[in-house]
Amino acid sequence: MNISENLSPWSFVHVSDIHVGSPRSYRFQPAWNENWQTARRQIRALVPDLVLVGGDLTRAGATHVEELTGIRDDLAAMGPECLIIPGNHEVGNKWSPDSSVAISSAYLRRYASVFGSSEWSVVRGAGINRVRFTGIDAFKLGSGLPEEAELRSWLDAQSTDDSCSNHVWIIHPALFADRFDETDFDRYVDRVPWYFGLNKVDRDYLWSVMRRTGVTHVISGHIHCRRHLVVDGVEIHLAPATAFPQWGDRWSDGDDRLGFLHFAVAEGKLTSRFVPLETISALPGYGPGGNPPVAGRDYSVAQQQPALVPAPDES
Ligand SMILES: [Fe+2]
Repeated sequence: MNISENLSPWSFVHVSDIHVGSPRSYRFQPAWNENWQTARRQIRALVPDLVLVGGDLTRAGATHVEELTGIRDDLAAMGPECLIIPGNHEVGNKWSPDSSVAISSAYLRRYASVFGSSEWSVVRGAGINRVRFTGIDAFKLGSGLPEEAELRSWLDAQSTDDSCSNHVWIIHPALFADRFDETDFDRYVDRVPWYFGLNKVDRDYLWSVMRRTGVTHVISGHIHCRRHLVVDGVEIHLAPATAFPQWGDRWSDGDDRLGFLHFAVAEGKLTSRFVPLETISALPGYGPGGNPPVAGRDYSVAQQQPALVPAPDES
């Protein structure tokens, strides 16, 4: 079906933080791969017209291009059109001067060589059910990389589209950790909330672009805990993960169950519902969590040989 010609109700899925890995890696959680296959089956059964993939597609795609190509091909074979943005596991963490795995031009180029641009703005649906979708790699903001300047130029060129009933923005980091007007967390004292959200100066800039372009919904990943808020009439969705939960005890209105979001588009409105995974895998895995530096990773523990070889971080 060509949804651009479809005036009738339609639907899309947002799925994020699927973290598919490889047994050839220095770390591997087959449960997360199995959870993705469960989510994939459930998504296919819903027959959505579109799937938004909100980043962290891989366990360590930033250094293993095979993980990038593997999930790219898997998503392409799933069926519905997929619109994809990267997460920090593809292009590096929120920029920090003390992080050896922070966002870098080398990671960004590697991602782009597999997926193309991480920025896109498209329209799907028709009539009153026309929806604009804009996806960006928000971690470029505040990085100081040449790609940040390019992103800002791209964002500054975006304009209002009055022909769309809704404008959905997709980013990987959250706009904020706890609340929209929060000041910046200290990256050494409160590293996790600092790591999960954008710095205020970048949030304020991005929010001004979003508002100027008629934003109605912002969907972010990264935290792995579902939450729904409304800021100045804009729906803010913190998306669930399919791989593993985090921050389930942070908020009274947070829900860290694994699953994805299914949106119905009808009569000019979006209605969302949470779809929990039908089964949660308990397969054992191996290797360190977190964001270990590239140097010192032990590939001798890989379950399958040959082990993946980290790509050189040419600059
Ligand atoms: Fe993640």
